Amino acid sequence: MDKIIVTGGRKLRGEVEVSGAKNAALPMMAAALLTDQESIIENVPNLKDIRTMLDLLNSLGAKGEYRDGTVTITPGNTLVPVAPYELVSTMRASVCVLGPLLARVGNAEVSLPGGCVIGPRPIDLHLKGLEALGASTEIRHGYVHARMHKRLRGNDIYLGGAFGSSVLATANVMMAATLARGQTTIEDAACEPEIVDLACFLIRMGAKIQGVGSKRIEIEGVNKLHGAKTAIIADRVEVGTYLFAAAMTGGDVLVKKADPNHQNVVIDKLRQAGARVDRGKSSIRVRRTGRLQPVNVTTLPYPGFPTDLQAQMMALMTITPGISVITEKIYPDRYMHVSELNRMGSRIFLEGPSAIVQGVKRLSGAPVMASDLRASAALVIAGLVAEGSTEIHRVYHLDRGYERIEEKLSQLGAAISRQKEQVPEQKSDSSMALELEAVG
Ligand code: EPZ
Repeated sequence: MDKIIVTGGRKLRGEVEVSGAKNAALPMMAAALLTDQESIIENVPNLKDIRTMLDLLNSLGAKGEYRDGTVTITPGNTLVPVAPYELVSTMRASVCVLGPLLARVGNAEVSLPGGCVIGPRPIDLHLKGLEALGASTEIRHGYVHARMHKRLRGNDIYLGGAFGSSVLATANVMMAATLARGQTTIEDAACEPEIVDLACFLIRMGAKIQGVGSKRIEIEGVNKLHGAKTAIIADRVEVGTYLFAAAMTGGDVLVKKADPNHQNVVIDKLRQAGARVDRGKSSIRVRRTGRLQPVNVTTLPYPGFPTDLQAQMMALMTITPGISVITEKIYPDRYMHVSELNRMGSRIFLEGPSAIVQGVKRLSGAPVMASDLRASAALVIAGLVAEGSTEIHRVYHLDRGYERIEEKLSQLGAAISRQKEQVPEQKSDSSMALELEAVG
């Protein structure tokens, strides 16, 4: 295991290029199963989750490989539609193979993803959508057993949930509907850019999809799809993370290979917080010289404020004079970073789904524990402004979603390095259990 050491006090300056979006690549890799032909996906980040998805595709009988940012997948015609617990439990996005396998093979056994540190991760909306397409599903011994008696048939499906629309449920149902007989309408579909990117890839494969990016997606089923080639969009969560880091340190950073159109609410909140933000065609520049201003934020489905940037926004607010209120509407338990930030001297109080953040003058560096992907990023950027050094342990969480974060931050002038963790001889059960938990 590795740890990351950050010494605070440096302003970030310069340019940084972001990688491709993990959350666009993962469902797209599952979509490749919808044909027996080869598909090529470029601009894929070199992350643990990508390798986990490749392991899953290979275990299903597809041939998948990753080389220099490009994933090549050749599913062939001998798929074994069983996604095992060992893989699905480490990465929730594995559930995305359910729709493609059902549409291609006619049945699938996929382990339930289970919960994780940010909260329960149900898949009832996935199953509701697939059943509406004519599949029968049953949960036995921790696995979803799905099967269709004949070909899937199109239907009108409402996919909204208590927390708004579901990203991966929209992905699963949309993928399955591309090979169903007739027309499918998905109401209250997710509008995230990653869903738009997936739909564009499916259309390149020969799917007929309208209304992409809106709450209502219409799919005209076809008999067969063919292989396709695409390059995935920039990772908007990685972009936001560097924007918040630049604002926190009072620096001047140009984030390149970004799509400003995916960052409207983040740019709005940064400007409210007192940062100067300039949008380029494929870049965003953040400068902050003046005093930070408190900002209230509520996480919502896209285009609302992304839950995946809630922890990073909170880090910024910990050093912002005044009171800021952050309300988490997508994953009400997504506050594992609060206790670690408070170890660094921040003053955050949880009140139901909200965190009340009372800004402090200075954070102090401390040893902290990463708990999930985005909380880890918040601890790293908090370390950039803390007095002294901060040691972030269990950074494998970070490595699931950020490609070479310490290199990119070093290029911007941060005092940050990665070191091998001296693993204690005897690990407690709780620490083992934590290690098995996964978010994604
Ligand atoms: C995707 O997860 C992302 N993961 C998450 O990013 C992201 O936080 C989330 O969307 C919300 O934007 C990937 O794309 C791989 P949801 P997903 O289904 O699709 C409830 C990261 O850090 N729900 O949109 O699994 C659910 O409990 C990860 O990169 C149901 O009730 O999230 C949650 O409250 C973390 N029933 C809400 O909907 C369902 O069947 C949104 O979940 C499905 C979801």
